[in-house]
Amino acid sequence: MNKILVTGAAGQIGSELTPALREKYGHDAVVASDIQQPEGLEDPFVELDVTDRDAIEAVVEEHEIDAIFHLAAILSAKGEENPGLAWDVNVNGLYNVFEVGREYDIEKIITPSSIAVYGSTTPDNPGEETVLIPTTMYGISKVLTELLAKYYYENYDLDVRGVRLPGILSYKTLPGGGTTDYAVEVFYEAIEEGHYEYFVRPDTMLPMMYMPDAVNSLMQLAEADDEDLNYRCAYNVSALTFTAEELTEAIQEHLPDFEATYAPDDRQAIADSWPDRVDDTAAREDWDWEPEYKLDKMVEDMLTNLERKLSN
Ligand code: SER
Repeated sequence: MNKILVTGAAGQIGSELTPALREKYGHDAVVASDIQQPEGLEDPFVELDVTDRDAIEAVVEEHEIDAIFHLAAILSAKGEENPGLAWDVNVNGLYNVFEVGREYDIEKIITPSSIAVYGSTTPDNPGEETVLIPTTMYGISKVLTELLAKYYYENYDLDVRGVRLPGILSYKTLPGGGTTDYAVEVFYEAIEEGHYEYFVRPDTMLPMMYMPDAVNSLMQLAEADDEDLNYRCAYNVSALTFTAEELTEAIQEHLPDFEATYAPDDRQAIADSWPDRVDDTAAREDWDWEPEYKLDKMVEDMLTNLERKLSN
């Protein structure tokens, strides 16, 4: 990976993965891209809409790109508000990236899948090979991502890799339009308002992960030996699992006056369709996946850093 393109670099994961990649591979070796350059995301940056295949080709050619971290996507809740947009970005955008990858002999493409591939018929603690019948357009697009990754690898030797990410928590950039967003929003409101109204029930339990672990999972998988990979783009990676109520209690350990209320909306059905936890034995065995952050350590780090950020 000598010259890396990151799509969706302004998004929740991109805004932290991009600096981490620059740290490891060299600042100028990583070209960030998104539909708009946000403040704080340094050059090299190109404005890029992944639904425009010619534009992707032009960037790959001009910057002699040989690896792509493809993060541009519409998340689950926003995807249900606008399924056509989710299809266009998540499916047509992905197809464009894979086609350009094939045409230009891109060495590696890393693109995340999600726990959203699962559905209400998925058994508890699922592994990689369990039934995948998602209920959202986002989940459908991620099942397609995994299948296309396998297809392009087997038919065109295109090395596509990815993990099924859970809800990601971070104090730097807010997630946008996901079902798991409550687990980030609650920290902001706890500090600023002393109160948060969850859009899910207190007993809602979902797999989650702190951002440093999410960034590591993608970077570690990118460097793993090809012959060790039994599930190219479909690795479960598990780190945390907690109910909304458990998260409230963990925050109250630090902010005893914080109060939570619960008013489930449409996103509850999506949350209910996803498993409480996933089995990540394959990632641990195939490429030594090991998360660092447990609930208490994550909550402490989130609150310390957010309090500092919000007081500036
Ligand atoms: N965080 C994502 C969402 O809620 C799940 O991958 O849509």
